[in-house]
Amino acid sequence: MAKHTIVTMPGDGIGNQVLPEALRVLQAVGFEADYVHGDIGWEFWKSEGNALPDRTIALLEKHKLGLFGAITSKPKKEADAELSPALHGQGFTYYSPIVTMRQRFGLDICVRPCIGFPGNPLNFIRKKPGGGFEEPRVNVVVFRQNTEGLYCGVEWTNPPQPVRDALASHPKFKPFAGVKGEDLAVSVRVITRAAARRICRAAFGHAQRYGYKSVTICEKPNVLRETSGMMEEVAKEVAKEFPGIALWSTNIDAQTMWLTKNPEDYGVVVASNLFGDVISDAFAGLVGGLGFAASGNIGDQVAVFEPTHGSAPKYAELDPPIVNPIAMILSAAMLLDHVGEPDKSERVRAAIAAVIQEGKVRTYDMMRIPGGAKSIAQGAAATTQMTDAILAKLASVGVAQAAAARS
Ligand code: NAI
Ligand code: MG
Repeated sequence: MAKHTIVTMPGDGIGNQVLPEALRVLQAVGFEADYVHGDIGWEFWKSEGNALPDRTIALLEKHKLGLFGAITSKPKKEADAELSPALHGQGFTYYSPIVTMRQRFGLDICVRPCIGFPGNPLNFIRKKPGGGFEEPRVNVVVFRQNTEGLYCGVEWTNPPQPVRDALASHPKFKPFAGVKGEDLAVSVRVITRAAARRICRAAFGHAQRYGYKSVTICEKPNVLRETSGMMEEVAKEVAKEFPGIALWSTNIDAQTMWLTKNPEDYGVVVASNLFGDVISDAFAGLVGGLGFAASGNIGDQVAVFEPTHGSAPKYAELDPPIVNPIAMILSAAMLLDHVGEPDKSERVRAAIAAVIQEGKVRTYDMMRIPGGAKSIAQGAAATTQMTDAILAKLASVGVAQAAAARS
């Protein structure tokens, strides 16, 4: 197999703490790759007016594979205020580098596994009607359309006249037609059939490959009749290509309620951009939250893997770092799957599972204590100690054992 080169983009804040931990694990599992650093994040917005510099885009274009930590992004006014004074008045606008990356490389398939590890004290439990508690086994993978929908970036405060005119051609715009300039904001939700088909096919393909019995399309077609309507229609068409897998339809609002009632009933879930963002966070909350939530952004050519958490600025300066590296390490495991190294990714997940099951090494989030300089004195593992524990297990977990642990 050709040796891969991975573009590593730690970004801001705790991205710089967790990404190196994932690299330690990749190395320990015997993944032979070269790594090149890519600049990304707030620092580059401030100094260059671009949070995703062209040189980083060129690296991704060349090497096709990225591991990304997290970035800091701030609202428009703060972004403008922090831009280097030398760059003011030159037309620089802050764009989220992740959204730009997803759109620039067509990373339209976002995969977010929300799979509980037995023994994780953060796993969701529910009351049994007859008394006591039970812990449902959550094994959900969310497929989120990553480039369109409400996040497509077509939006205005004070829309220009041609936009207003176009909107005014819709009868439902009447109540808003008189709203003045700066008092009107509009974000457009764009869905294309081609992208809807790709995300639905990816979802069903995953279900087929990994033995999930159902795919749930999670939208709101009764209200968003056009856009959610198209998503659902396409899901029904695609379902016909996969006769062994059931298609369920839920509404995003109802789904967020049901997922705490019967999360074990769901398998693969597919949704448009915003709803996929929401529902994947909601499911992630059942299996440990941000410290465990990994993701892949996958296009035809390029793929970038990242934890779903952000830069957590309040923990970024702590020495030693205390945040949980597992979400980042699981993201690296997804990269291994993507490049056709499932034996290695299974070993990584089995090692993580063993550490969690044993319960001796836990980061502050797993202990449900406040994060901060004192957490280590309270018994929490530092970031590197969690990785050390995973590496120690890795040394003893074989491939067969890893496969057995997952079956
Ligand atoms: P965040 O995800 O950075 O942190 C929220 C809280 O979750 C943290 O304060 C911490 O308590 C916990 N947390 C996050 N990651 C953790 C980990 N690995 N281990 C243990 N606990 C963890 O979200 P927040 O505070 O809303 O945003 C901070 C910055 O990150 C903002 O500038 C935001 O725009 C950006 N952001 C970037 C994302 C990305 O790079 N993909 C995603 C979300 C936010
Ligand atoms: Mg999110």
